Amino acid sequence: MQEHFDDHWVQQARALGWRSRAAFKLQQLDERLALLRAGQVVVDLGAAPGSWCQYANARIGERGSLIAVDLLPIEPLPGVTIIEGDFREQAMLEQLQRCLNGRAVDVVLSDMAPNISGIRTVDQTAAMYLAELALDFARQQLRVGGHWICKVFQGEGFDELLRSARAEFEQVRMHKPESSRDRSREQYMVGIRYQGNSCS
Ligand SMILES: C[S@@+](CC[C@H](N)C(=O)[O-])C[C@H]1O[C@@H](n2cnc3c(N)ncnc32)[C@H](O)[C@@H]1O
Repeated sequence: MQEHFDDHWVQQARALGWRSRAAFKLQQLDERLALLRAGQVVVDLGAAPGSWCQYANARIGERGSLIAVDLLPIEPLPGVTIIEGDFREQAMLEQLQRCLNGRAVDVVLSDMAPNISGIRTVDQTAAMYLAELALDFARQQLRVGGHWICKVFQGEGFDELLRSARAEFEQVRMHKPESSRDRSREQYMVGIRYQGNSCS
């Protein structure tokens, strides 16, 4: 039954021209929480192959601006600035800041997931580290009132991250989109309306 359900999203993605089924996760989060709109500046972390970029780019339109980052190459997308490299490195942060050129970010998206080793504690630590870095980036670059959407996994480090996010956003919501595989422990932490550094 689950396989059948997975196939459904894969086929739908193909039919709509999305690069992967992951697009539906962002679409479902956005439809529920109304996070993306025309003219926004958006940064997409862990963006390959680029289906979140496709969805976000359509939502922000030509007046918007989208910067996508991944370790892996991303096929070009009209209007999207692509940076290939490791988000954990300081040089990447500097490159992102150069691209932003002083503009505050409206929405930080992070669907980053480390390569899975199969050793649960190692994988959890690596995943939570990426989520913490994404929150740190949001702290530095979001405008007041901006949003942060981040893939997270229940386990070690989850409660601390939730606590930090709650201190900095007006609201924090947890979501497991309908299109996310049931057997996957992934969820999305959504920080709504950043309140600014004074709260951190
Ligand atoms: C689930 S995929 C993202 C799918 C994407 N949201 C989409 O819609 O096409 C996770 C991505 O995170 C990237 N990633 C993992 N660690 C990273 C890091 N340290 N820096 C940049 N990207 C990273 C992986 O290369 C992978 O492409």
